[in-house]
Amino acid sequence: PTEATISTIISSYYDDQCEFSREKLIMGHLLGKGAFGFVYQAIAYNIIPGEQSTTVAVKTVRDDATTDEIENLLKELAVMKMVGKHPNIINLFGCCTKGGQVMLIVEYAKYGNLRDYLRCKRPSGHVLSGSFESEENDDYHVDEIIDTLTTLDLLLFCLQVASGMDYLHSKKCIHRDLAARNVLLAENRVCKICDFGLARDLTQNYYYRKQTDGRVPVKWMSPEALFDRKFSTKSDIWSFAILAWEIMTYGGTPYPSVPAEKLFDYLRDGSRMSKPANCPNEIFKIIENCWEFKENLRPSFQQVCERLQRYLYGTS
Ligand code: ADE
Repeated sequence: PTEATISTIISSYYDDQCEFSREKLIMGHLLGKGAFGFVYQAIAYNIIPGEQSTTVAVKTVRDDATTDEIENLLKELAVMKMVGKHPNIINLFGCCTKGGQVMLIVEYAKYGNLRDYLRCKRPSGHVLSGSFESEENDDYHVDEIIDTLTTLDLLLFCLQVASGMDYLHSKKCIHRDLAARNVLLAENRVCKICDFGLARDLTQNYYYRKQTDGRVPVKWMSPEALFDRKFSTKSDIWSFAILAWEIMTYGGTPYPSVPAEKLFDYLRDGSRMSKPANCPNEIFKIIENCWEFKENLRPSFQQVCERLQRYLYGTS
């Protein structure tokens, strides 16, 4: 893309309020590589009132990014601004759009993604499916953390994710790729949903929009999302059921013996994953309700939060 095209795109998204000056950002090491770009750790100076320096994560595109990739990052920025702040989502601190590569500055989650974290904290005796030893966790201070996770810890993870999702839905944002790999764990083991900016805004007719790129991993998808690419709050709730199952199994892999092409028939015939050994019956009932074949039988995230809170605290 030419400089002129890029600057036209940038100015159409430009908003001075959130612009952060590049000189106050010291880039650190690579945290992750996505399909479209990179996430780096960085130090930002005076990005939060009352805090001199803050560890942040910086999302950016490759040097040779196409105009579309740059525009997608700017769209993600626009969604993050539209959504606003909540403790259980990765929040936006600011961005750099002028005078160089587009960068999104977001909260840094020091324990990394929930799936790898759960697998690290799996009590001995649990059998790991798939290879795990080779996965890199060095960037995250997993070793610092106290012991294994209790069932209560796991249920609190479920509740935090459900709260973050209830908030996103209240802002008309559907995630479309909710999974443990897209939940990050920050200080004090707070769950933060990430990549919701890749999700689409319900008000911009993305609601029930058919997806074209086929990127969404099949085993988290509801039958209607799988079958006719129908994404909605109800397909997010289905994905949450799979995510809650991942949590309760300390990062288990869903349907290991079901090939992707058999999945739709498997689900249509009423087959589902079984209750993880440590999962309380009441909690599994919630999970089963979230993976009802019929969308309208599934609960909302608000209802899931209430049911989890009632189980955990006896209230809602
Ligand atoms: N990997 C991708 N995004 C991240 C973030 N915000 N914090 C930590 N690791 C990440």
